Amino acid sequence: MATPHNSAEIGDIAERVLLPGDPLRAKFIAENFLSDVKKYNEIRNVYGFTGKYKNIPVTVQATGMGIPSFSIYVHELIHVYGAKKLIRVGTCGGMHEKLKLRDVVIAQGTSTDSSIVRQVFGGAISFSLLADYELLSKAVENAKKLNIPVKVGNVFCTDYFYNDYCRENGIFSSNGLTLDQKMIQHGILAVEMESAALYMLAAAANVQGLALFTVSDHLGRGEESPAEEREKDFNEMIKIALETVIE
Ligand code: HPA
Repeated sequence: MATPHNSAEIGDIAERVLLPGDPLRAKFIAENFLSDVKKYNEIRNVYGFTGKYKNIPVTVQATGMGIPSFSIYVHELIHVYGAKKLIRVGTCGGMHEKLKLRDVVIAQGTSTDSSIVRQVFGGAISFSLLADYELLSKAVENAKKLNIPVKVGNVFCTDYFYNDYCRENGIFSSNGLTLDQKMIQHGILAVEMESAALYMLAAAANVQGLALFTVSDHLGRGEESPAEEREKDFNEMIKIALETVIE
């Protein structure tokens, strides 16, 4: 049974899924890391592939950018196709000064300006959006084995890529600090746009979710990693994700 967004039949998609935003990254992962690859989706060019990694079926599904687009694909992966272990592989903007370009970040938890928690719990509680502990601890172990340094902590999942009027200049600043400065003061490492949806959907469905990122730019220092380097950094993160998703 296909969906309006995904032409996969039941069985075309594995229980273990990697989630890049960019369809061409999905293709790159499938071509460079998986064997016996089959492309099952081209609707909107948001490609999905299933292949094998170390003989275990793994799916790579692109999601587009941001919570709404991501949530459509991930909801269907979980509720229509039976995905059980889902790992987001994306980029993030470094916020905390201890992050460098190209670092790999693992989101132990995620804090968000999106309404997705309110839509589930109203204002009754501020639900903590957490990584699945098993995936998190295995990812940390695998990074050590692969000799790839990682930073583990809280990230900021935003609905706005461009939001200077609130975060830098605006209505939420207090004690002379901007919202970004306050978040950094409270240990937020980086900013990205999908992890809160993954952790919310995974919690609601009792499946496992984890979000990994490479730092592609640094907000405070105004740095950006050159396109050629991004591929190599990206590959390190993919190795951690694949070794973790097959466990
Ligand atoms: N903001 C939001 N998401 C991002 C960024 C950013 O600066 N960099 C990479 N993903």
